[in-house]
Amino acid sequence: MAKKKTAKFKESIGLDIGSHSIKLVHLKRLHNGFKLLNYEIRSTVPEGQEYTQSDLSPDRFAPVLSNMLRTLKINPKKVKHIVSSIGGDNTSLKQIKTIYLPDDELESALFFEAKKHLPISGSDMMLDYQVLSVEEKTNNMNILLAATTRDLLNEHTSILTAGGITPGIIDIESLAVANAFLLNSFVESGVYVILNIGSLKTNMVIWGPTAKFFARDIAWGGYNFTKDIAKREKMSFSDAEAYKLEHGIVEEKKVDEEVSLMSLDISQKTTQEQIAMEVKRSLRYYVKEAGNSDFRKILLVGGSAKLKGLEAYMKEQLNIDTEVFDPFTDLEMPEKFKDKKDPQLALALGLAMRPE
Ligand SMILES: Nc1ncnc2c1ncn2[C@@H]1O[C@H](COP(=O)(O)OP(=O)(O)OP(=O)(O)O)[C@@H](O)[C@H]1O
Ligand SMILES: [Mg+2]
Repeated sequence: MAKKKTAKFKESIGLDIGSHSIKLVHLKRLHNGFKLLNYEIRSTVPEGQEYTQSDLSPDRFAPVLSNMLRTLKINPKKVKHIVSSIGGDNTSLKQIKTIYLPDDELESALFFEAKKHLPISGSDMMLDYQVLSVEEKTNNMNILLAATTRDLLNEHTSILTAGGITPGIIDIESLAVANAFLLNSFVESGVYVILNIGSLKTNMVIWGPTAKFFARDIAWGGYNFTKDIAKREKMSFSDAEAYKLEHGIVEEKKVDEEVSLMSLDISQKTTQEQIAMEVKRSLRYYVKEAGNSDFRKILLVGGSAKLKGLEAYMKEQLNIDTEVFDPFTDLEMPEKFKDKKDPQLALALGLAMRPE
């Protein structure tokens, strides 16, 4: 999670392969910063058709991916810096503190630590780490551990290869979500909560220039908003999806003030209630763990950040200033993209701006 833009590449591609759609951002590196060359968002689910996690086989992605590259006239062999990401259940990110260890001991010690801290079984675990800081007084090290499974990584690289791409840097989604924010905003203090609300999940990230890093995935997203509408309005999934894009959640009745969210049964709760409740729970945990409650803002990104009414709902529920984050603030934009403010592209942009 480097803060300075020390990239050496000339062009870069950020590729966010989500369960609903593939997002691609193509950048040119300038002397100081980046210029947007092109972007594309393409759904990988047949329009209007309901999908479940088990339908999402990797074979589905590669044709869409190669098609996108053709449309954008990108020869993936010519772009040296292609960054993609993996996320979900079999990935994990955690900041830990250890006593000072020299380089040659660090890796094996961290592997041992990671087994204690991360919910991934040891034998299958692929581990990466970054030393964030060494505390002056105590010499303790703050380290960010990133782990995934060999299977998930293989599945991801086979999608890239089948799409004609040589796998390059592969980040964990939540880290790229944090990068999308920190590389495009210049905050000097405070704690920021970023929610990347996708289709089957929401990446929740807590980041601040000097705050402890926290990340988790919440198992609700756009798919669930559509399911709520289908149930409530007695509509098919595809009608509910269209209804959602038009109306969002603005016209929904508010939960009865008398009924506390916690007391509702899971099946009675709406998706926005579930997400708000999980975010609250994690914020409480964070305050206790990190001893920091200097929350300045909730930033919404991802396709479902565009859901009408969600920004106001989250603000009211969480009592923290909330906004849909525009990731395209620190880029040179060609005239045809001047009005581009799509929060769905945030993660792909974070990937493309990632330093080598
Ligand atoms: N204007 C809009 N209003 C409401 N929802 C929207 C809008 N545009 C897109 N969405 C929803 O955003 C979701 C897709 O977002 P995104 O591309 O971030 O997900 P994904 O990355 O494919 O999924 P995941 O991260 O869960 O694997 C879909 O559920 C879609 O219905
Ligand atoms: Mg996503």
